[in-house]
Amino acid sequence: MNNYLLFALPGNDVLAHSLADKSKIELGLVKFHVFPDGEDYLRVESDVKNKIIILVCTLDHPDAKILRLLFLAQTLRELGATEICLLAPYLPYMRQDKHFQSGDALTSTIFAKLLSSFVDRVITIDPHLHRIHNLAEIYSVSNITTLHASKKIAEWISAKITSPFIIGPDEESKQWVREVAEQVNASYAIISKIRHTNGSVDITLPDFKDHNKNLILVDDIISSGATMLTTLRKLDLRGFKNINCIGIHALFDKTTYNDLLSAGATRVVSCNTIPHFSNEIDLADLINDQIQKEP
Ligand code: R5P
Repeated sequence: MNNYLLFALPGNDVLAHSLADKSKIELGLVKFHVFPDGEDYLRVESDVKNKIIILVCTLDHPDAKILRLLFLAQTLRELGATEICLLAPYLPYMRQDKHFQSGDALTSTIFAKLLSSFVDRVITIDPHLHRIHNLAEIYSVSNITTLHASKKIAEWISAKITSPFIIGPDEESKQWVREVAEQVNASYAIISKIRHTNGSVDITLPDFKDHNKNLILVDDIISSGATMLTTLRKLDLRGFKNINCIGIHALFDKTTYNDLLSAGATRVVSCNTIPHFSNEIDLADLINDQIQKEP
């Protein structure tokens, strides 16, 4: 893959280095600086003419990251890069996918339109697909690839937890919970959830009585933690203890991780789509396999 170069946006160095090692693609050099007034400066120091570029940039807290990413993508193009592929392990703005109230901005669509005008391809991992069923409905890039963490989550569960029983905290979670459960040969249950505000949800537990199993909550995103915390509390009332929590994307507020442990979670584990010390499930091989398939 001599005609490829990987570029790491700030905060993405660990994953980018791991991918560079695995894929044998060279890392491009770029200098970033923030002026005292808060404006970004960047300078590309590698020769990118006729190269295919993979920009490694996870997009949690996207507003602080997006301009720098767009500045770099456009600069690379002006310097002669032939194609810009964005590897965004976490793709944001997927939850505001309908007008919940009149006047709401449909940010999922606006954000997709913006990104699509700067990059040619996107690779991402388990985006929050709910009312939008396929990213191609809102992204107009020439190619968009969605990878799934379920196999790697299943491998982690098989290595660490005996007699698992998987729980999905809402209807949307069924897509990945079912896949994980099948791969570890476990049963699963899906909870129904009603969200009131960002940090407040109501859940209804289905009837299951497997007290001799090790319960694992699996969700795509853990953010405020309200979904998992409410579930942990209800499970506790039913006498279920020692529950493991797995989130693909660790969006965590400042207190989320500790709140989950305080509520009785035995372990809180995430995939490395967003850097966090809970990143026990490494998806670099999954991403590299995809990079190797790229044209
Ligand atoms: C939403 O439906 C997602 O699948 C997650 O359940 C949600 O984003 C988790 O957010 P929080 O941790 O704030 O409850």
